[in-house]
Amino acid sequence: MNILQKNVSKIAYTALLLVLFAAGLLLAQYGPFSSNPNGNKATTGYGSLGGDFSLDSAQGKVHLKDFRGQLVVMYFGFTSCPEVCPTALSSVAASMRNLEPEQAQQIQPLFISVDPARDTLENLAAYSAYFHPRMLGLTGPIEELDILVPKYGAYYRHIPLESSALGYTVDHTSRLYVIDQEGKLVTTIAHGTSVEDMTLLFKQYL
Ligand code: NI
Repeated sequence: MNILQKNVSKIAYTALLLVLFAAGLLLAQYGPFSSNPNGNKATTGYGSLGGDFSLDSAQGKVHLKDFRGQLVVMYFGFTSCPEVCPTALSSVAASMRNLEPEQAQQIQPLFISVDPARDTLENLAAYSAYFHPRMLGLTGPIEELDILVPKYGAYYRHIPLESSALGYTVDHTSRLYVIDQEGKLVTTIAHGTSVEDMTLLFKQYL
């Protein structure tokens, strides 16, 4: 190879690298592996998480199947939670109030207590309705909650409190689980999401 040939092959090689790099960027942006947070319903990828369940409410047994055709917005918590649960549930209620009444009618908010020993069904119903009249308070035996909570990728833990009349507190995931009209978990909403963003997200799935 003479000098000229060497330079030509160097340029060709560099050009090839640039093309591959550009192709990689395009694939990352638009390809099948991209994670686009504002993308459509199909790209959220909660495939293996979620699933049907039955729990107790003040009105009797409630099955996730009962809400087919509705957009279910679900939260795991406990009524004596000082701040985290009330903040999340208030945001759900405020977002629903931002919608047209007919749209809000298509949303079923569920508050699932992971503290069944202290949250009676009656207290749970009153607590949930305080945030929004459509919000249902549910719970069940701890053995069933221990199956349900990880099924949704969530967790909770009872933590003893040495010097408190409460005895224990409950550490828990603060995320909202959005289940579509066919019963499929389609996305989750992080704690601290603004009411404006939550309203937009609800509209997107209605
Ligand atoms: Ni809480």
